[in-house]
Amino acid sequence: MKIAIPRECRPGETRVAASPEVVKKLAGFSFDVAVEKGAGEAAAITDANFKDAGATIAEDATATYKNADIVLKIQRPVTEGAEGQNELSLIKKGAVVLAHMAALTHKEDVAAMAEAGITAFAMELMPRITRAQSMDILSSQSNLAGYKAVLDGAAEYGSAFPMMMTAAGTVPPAKVFIMGVGVAGLQAIATAKRLGAIVTATDVRPATKEQVESLGGKFLEVDPEMEKNAQTEGGYAKEMPPEYFEKQKQVVSEHIKSQDLVITTALIPGRSAPVLVTEDMVKTMNHGSVIVDLAVEAGGNCPLSQLGEVVVKHGVTLVGHDNVPGRLAKDASLLFAKNLLNFLSPHVDQEKKDLNFDWEDETVAGTLLCRDGKVIHPMFTGGE
Ligand code: NAI
Repeated sequence: MKIAIPRECRPGETRVAASPEVVKKLAGFSFDVAVEKGAGEAAAITDANFKDAGATIAEDATATYKNADIVLKIQRPVTEGAEGQNELSLIKKGAVVLAHMAALTHKEDVAAMAEAGITAFAMELMPRITRAQSMDILSSQSNLAGYKAVLDGAAEYGSAFPMMMTAAGTVPPAKVFIMGVGVAGLQAIATAKRLGAIVTATDVRPATKEQVESLGGKFLEVDPEMEKNAQTEGGYAKEMPPEYFEKQKQVVSEHIKSQDLVITTALIPGRSAPVLVTEDMVKTMNHGSVIVDLAVEAGGNCPLSQLGEVVVKHGVTLVGHDNVPGRLAKDASLLFAKNLLNFLSPHVDQEKKDLNFDWEDETVAGTLLCRDGKVIHPMFTGGE
């Protein structure tokens, strides 16, 4: 079995889907691991690191993908006509490809992968069950994004975070407001608290109140009655009715005026991100305040934030970095790679040195997009 780890070729992607630790484990299964030259460069993992772990270094993408049975990637393969080289054409028919496929928003690429005869797994669709926590790429990457969002916000904010009592006077603590308390939001709360800020947070899912409080933050309640049904069985937020947004707007408008850093993380799978901070709210914020919009790739929680840009509007700095986990490329790569390994390992037949998927397994069935030339995931075939 040959495993290919290509260099990611989409613009701005700094991560790599393998780490030396994971290569060592894969080589230990007697798999041949080929890493494309320079694949880990932007994540500070050298070719020598991969080689020492047991990989061979392939000269280019063609050599990396050639005859590979399994492909480990960060982002879905680039298809014909898209930016970057056509990776899909280099992957052999029947090969297993694991990546963040952005399947719900790029259905045309899912169809292209089916047509190419690839067995594709969309790792972002991993079911949210306890056993799958170690395989959850959304979770591992969001955690880093939440941490980095606070640092990015602090870097733009012109004042200190902790209260400082000095001989020259007292510097007040920064006020940080986190909107959306999933994995990223929780890490943002913890990070902002560590820096000495006063932290408040809000979310539609009622379970988050206790989580916010356990981290020393204060929960901003919108409407507990309407929030009772805000969570899907899978643990995600549902799209809320317009009445909820009206109520949320009133509560947030009042609160946001006094906040120094606002971090928004609210996402609804497969939909545009909900607008939580309107332009009118931004106008009421103090000059020099900062908004970090972690939902910017899904359209943004604030209509003023711009993808890949840091802009100033009405005196407020809006941070809209693209691929925030990629701003901590090494850690993000190590965790992503471990997620992929944790997913694959139970299906490795060590005696036959082969991969033998249990197609009934919840983690396999929940992520398998296409196989044998067909798109088979229930979300695409109308089964879910
Ligand atoms: P996410 O990235 O989809 O969304 C971020 C947050 O935004 C969520 O907390 C969501 O409730 C909130 N949100 C959505 N719409 C909102 C609105 N209109 N106003 C305010 N907040 C809004 O969520 P994430 O971070 O992926 O996690 C969701 C849950 O899943 C968490 O409780 C997490 O612990 C759980 N989880 C479970 C796993 C497992 O059991 N294997 C793995 C990963 C996460």
